[in-house]
Amino acid sequence: MRTLTGITPSGTAHIGNYFGAMRPAIEAQASGDCFYFIADYHSMTSVTDPAERRANTRGIAIDWLACGLDPEKSVFWLQSDVPEVCELTWLIGSLTPMGLLERAHSFKDKTAKGISPNFGLFAYPVLMAADILLYDTNAVPVGRDQKQHVEMTRDIAIKFNQTYGETLVVPESVIREDVAVVPGLDGQKMSKSYGNTLEIFGDEKVLRKKVMSIVMDSRTPVEPKPDAERNLCVQLLKLVAPPDAAADLEGRLRAGGLGYGDLKKALFSHYWDFFAPARARRAELVAHPDYVDQVLREGAGRARSVASVVMRRARKAAGLE
Ligand code: ADP
Ligand code: TRP
Repeated sequence: MRTLTGITPSGTAHIGNYFGAMRPAIEAQASGDCFYFIADYHSMTSVTDPAERRANTRGIAIDWLACGLDPEKSVFWLQSDVPEVCELTWLIGSLTPMGLLERAHSFKDKTAKGISPNFGLFAYPVLMAADILLYDTNAVPVGRDQKQHVEMTRDIAIKFNQTYGETLVVPESVIREDVAVVPGLDGQKMSKSYGNTLEIFGDEKVLRKKVMSIVMDSRTPVEPKPDAERNLCVQLLKLVAPPDAAADLEGRLRAGGLGYGDLKKALFSHYWDFFAPARARRAELVAHPDYVDQVLREGAGRARSVASVVMRRARKAAGLE
């Protein structure tokens, strides 16, 4: 049973990414055959500065390794280190109806926002399908927004198999229903696009300021707060604090007597402690760039050995050899 997912190399990882995507992926390493890659080819539709792409790609690779991605257990590589994915994109793209791509929500959303579409944006789901199909993937864990892309991958694989004979494994999406949507510092879903993120890594002063600036209501500290479980700081505390500590703070808030300033201080301190081991690992990784290069190089080698077998099968089926 092979699990594969792609990681978008955009910006700095936040705790929504951690609880929603990184931690489940890292936990899955205990039980399965995991393939994780950084989707740097996909970043080409949004980033056109080479230095920015390089920095983002490397930064996100280090973030994942620091948070517990284990290159002994998982295959971890950069998408563009296995360029066969572009060849498979062409083979399957030649069977993909325009209508299917025109119905993609992500494409429709971007064009609705006024982004003038280019071929890369339109073909984005075909490249994503190639990512999945190139590695005989069974399961694709993704956020809800990517479900449609995995459905398209299934349609494309079925079409290829009908046209050229059984060649490609038809994957399933795994939507992480049990994973809570992490609220951002303004109470909406935490997202880079809303500017309400709390980063996993970064400068202590800046991050403390972000936490201390969370806007609360105007009730006085002594007032009991019967709705304590809906308090944003309490919700975030439940993610980063040991359960008894979170329950204790929630109880004190409910009873009255705990001020919001103290609540925010407690939140910051638990959040800072929660990520302390990852922060230490990240500092190590930053100090050893050769190690990171080697991990990605070895990962690419392992990924490529699977990809070349599937690519050969697809080329033969299609009469390219
Ligand atoms: P952003 O919205 O900040 O741009 P991405 O779209 O890059 O985040 O998300 C990367 C991964 O992190 C996806 O799997 C997504 O489901 C998950 N994720 C992002 N924000 C949250 C959140 N607030 N709560 C839970 N998971 C999240
Ligand atoms: N499009 C995905 C996202 O924006 C990233 C991605 C690229 C991906 N290729 C993939 C996810 C293959 C799963 C499988 O999050």
